[in-house]
Amino acid sequence: MENTEQKKRILSGIQPSGDLTLGSYLGAIKNWASLADEYDCYYMLADMHTITVRQVPADLRRRTLTQVAAYIASGLDPEKNTLFVQSHVPAHAQLGWVLDCYTMFGELSRMTQFKDKSAKNADNINAGLFTYPALMAADILLYQADLVPVGGDQKQHVEICRDIATRFNGVYGDVFKIPEPYIPKVGARVMSLSSPENKMSKSDKDPNGCVYMLEKPEDIMRKFKKAMTDSEACVRFDPENKPGVSNLMQIYSVATGSSFEAIEAEFAGRGYGDFKKAVGESVVELLRPIREETERLLADKAYLESVYRAGAEKASYVANRTLSKVYKKVGFLAR
Ligand code: TYM
Repeated sequence: MENTEQKKRILSGIQPSGDLTLGSYLGAIKNWASLADEYDCYYMLADMHTITVRQVPADLRRRTLTQVAAYIASGLDPEKNTLFVQSHVPAHAQLGWVLDCYTMFGELSRMTQFKDKSAKNADNINAGLFTYPALMAADILLYQADLVPVGGDQKQHVEICRDIATRFNGVYGDVFKIPEPYIPKVGARVMSLSSPENKMSKSDKDPNGCVYMLEKPEDIMRKFKKAMTDSEACVRFDPENKPGVSNLMQIYSVATGSSFEAIEAEFAGRGYGDFKKAVGESVVELLRPIREETERLLADKAYLESVYRAGAEKASYVANRTLSKVYKKVGFLAR
């Protein structure tokens, strides 16, 4: 554990509940790779969270493995980052239960994601869906994380995690580090290409709204060419009145590093056709090396297995230290 002890710690995760999207990449993964030198980084595959909604078991397994490969292909060097599968570290479920008992019914009822997901899955509003934020708080608090890099939609979950930690610390002393959300300035909320008032989401029913990280270039181009814009024919950043164009500008800005002013100048007097093609091409080029490397890594299952096994071991070591402390504080008899 040598020098990593002095570095600030980061924990984040993505649910392998669907294929990774351009939203998960721009809002989260893309920003993770650059943090490894400065921080001690833990990135999880949040498989336990996915079963709050019904999953096809074989698909969940396949997507989890693909996601390990995609993490590495996106620049997360397993030598410098701890990459692990949530269900491989039992401390998540163990602390999750304890935190359930320090999380209030009222605060869980106010969670936007719970309200959205229970509307979408009206026939399966299970207890796990409701207490999901307490498990997510356990994910973060087990590692005593300083920062939690996420997209804007997860901010509320990091806030409830802070509330739960503060409540627990209020009773038992300084057990948990209070984490801060770490949200990118551009790319924190990538919207659907076909209905830009909604977030781009893994579970989007409209196949044209969502671009997947590992999708073929021709499919990506087709989706961008069809992307919803408006009738003004002017590339200008105005999320309220021009949500489609503004979303494409954000994507182009993150993909190319150009500012909004530079993008407006680049496309001044040109039609949306040119603009959408350029955005599509920038995304294809951004994702191409990641897709190719993911495919290469997926052919080497033994290597991927060695990565997540080593990750689980390292994560368990850190997580179990926090869990022991918590068990002692709440009064569980030592084994
Ligand atoms: P999930 O799996 O829905 O999303 C993973 C990450 O991608 C970000 N993201 C987006 N960012 C910008 N635009 C979008 N359209 C977009 N879609 C997704 C999310 O903000 C997130 O950062 N509960 C979490 C997973 C989780 C977790 C954790 C995260 C479980 N435990 C502990 C951090 C710490 C979730 O469902 O993310």
